[in-house]
Amino acid sequence: MKPILMQFDTDALPSSFDRVVAVDAGVEQLFSYGNVNGENVTGLVHGAIFTRGPADLKHTAIFIGGSNVLEGERLLNKVTKTFFGPMRVSVMMDSNGCNTTAAAAVAIAKKHMKLEGASAIVLGATGPVGQRVSELLALEKAEVTLVSRTLDRAESTRDAIRARFPDARINRSSASTPEETEAACSGHQLVFAAGAAGICFLTEGSLARIEGLKLAVDLNAVPPVGIADISPMDKATDKSGVICYGALGVGGLKMKVHKQAIRSLFANNDQVLETQPIYELALQVAGL
Ligand SMILES: NC(=O)c1ccc[n+]([C@@H]2O[C@H](COP(=O)([O-])OP(=O)(O)OC[C@H]3O[C@@H](n4cnc5c(N)ncnc54)[C@H](OP(=O)(O)O)[C@@H]3O)[C@@H](O)[C@H]2O)c1
Repeated sequence: MKPILMQFDTDALPSSFDRVVAVDAGVEQLFSYGNVNGENVTGLVHGAIFTRGPADLKHTAIFIGGSNVLEGERLLNKVTKTFFGPMRVSVMMDSNGCNTTAAAAVAIAKKHMKLEGASAIVLGATGPVGQRVSELLALEKAEVTLVSRTLDRAESTRDAIRARFPDARINRSSASTPEETEAACSGHQLVFAAGAAGICFLTEGSLARIEGLKLAVDLNAVPPVGIADISPMDKATDKSGVICYGALGVGGLKMKVHKQAIRSLFANNDQVLETQPIYELALQVAGL
């Protein structure tokens, strides 16, 4: 029986990026749908679950994508609620690459140092990627500081993570200038920059000035990058004694994780691949 991947994209045009990755992961039958939302998805899910017998449903899977992560989360919720009993297929959610990117970034950090008890700071922590990076660091029992331009937003993100990990050691901080951001980073061993594309948080020379810093990951590839000392291509590059990764340096593992996640959807029919399961896959792919 031929494996089929159904791509449900919340944008009008189903992502060409996600389509290419699906094909590179080995998918031959890719059914792509755009403008998918909570109102019109039920019929699509019924088409996925009522066409093959329960034993063969592992040959059909769903990928949820699109540029709006909140809409993607809502769609995932609706899709999984439409399943019942054995009438289900495996589903992966990676709107805007949020889960694969965060999973790859934290797995890379874990490759270099013990995360349990480490002190990490996440810049741009309130966005979909930053929140997931923070959540995974909390899962690894690191002590995480969330940085936003506004304390209220950092607090909401903290509360959302604490709702899932009540024991998470999370602090929050506000910073809106490079000087304030650099000061907030002082004393942290890890810094992750997950700000909006083209937003620079830390200016040139910052890495050498941040006391105690061991590892820095910048996920913004769009100039100006998030940490001026890091180039997008940096991959375990030593700069002033700090191990540095740029967005493209993380991108290699991210792409492997994305493809591996797609392949693993077809192992059985009851997986829901979102932040944590995708992180577990990232650890495997990274050999951890
Ligand atoms: N390498 C990859 O494969 C890959 C894949 C996906 C995403 N990315 C990158 O990962 C980064 C994070 O993505 P995302 O979707 O989570 O980002 P996002 O939602 O666009 O922005 C993240 C945070 O940046 C802060 N921010 C926004 N505009 C700002 C401004 N003008 N000045 C200062 N801070 C500002 C906001 O925090 P506050 O409002 O709370 O301050 C926001 O919550 C992006 O750079 C994206 O391009 C990389």
